[in-house]
Amino acid sequence: MIGVLVSGEGSNLQALLDAGLPVAAVASNRPAVPALARADAAGVPTRVFELESFATREERDEAMALWLCEEGAEIAVLAGYMHLLTKPFLEIFPERVLNVHPSLLPEYPGAHAVEDALAAGESSTGATVHFVDEGIDSGSVIGQVRVTVRPNEDAESLHRRIQEVEHWLLPRCVNLYLEGGVWPE
Ligand code: GAR
Repeated sequence: MIGVLVSGEGSNLQALLDAGLPVAAVASNRPAVPALARADAAGVPTRVFELESFATREERDEAMALWLCEEGAEIAVLAGYMHLLTKPFLEIFPERVLNVHPSLLPEYPGAHAVEDALAAGESSTGATVHFVDEGIDSGSVIGQVRVTVRPNEDAESLHRRIQEVEHWLLPRCVNLYLEGGVWPE
């Protein structure tokens, strides 16, 4: 069973649900985001863990991980989750946290990967699914797909095309992991 972390639109969460993957629960660091409505529509339990409600980020992350466990999650998938995870979360899901990111990691980690690749004049970038460690988008890679940048393309268009790839790549990588086909280095 999978616990999914979200912060926004939730199109990658939708891809996991549409692929029939066993999503046990969805946690968000932000209230009232579309991703939570997608989980509700699928009958999946949700809870919001705002940083402001906890003394520290570590306390928030521990509470979030424990709630996902209570709901039956054995692994965690970050699907557009835009906060860095701290040690307490990773210790509760050791080597069992996956993330999807809109670049060919290790190139362009961080929150502005698509804009950064465009600003650097790259002729291609892509999507990556990887294991999460304490760094910024720095764990070992499970799968990557390259996306060619079109002439004069803006960030919105490029990100939309990268997300189409993510919606294909993420469920396949999660499935591969659940079937024991991949393990962090
Ligand atoms: C996705 O493109 C994901 O790769 C990116 O946020 C988007 C969320 O879309 N994540 C990061 O940039 C993490 N560093 P979604 O909410 O529609 O799935």
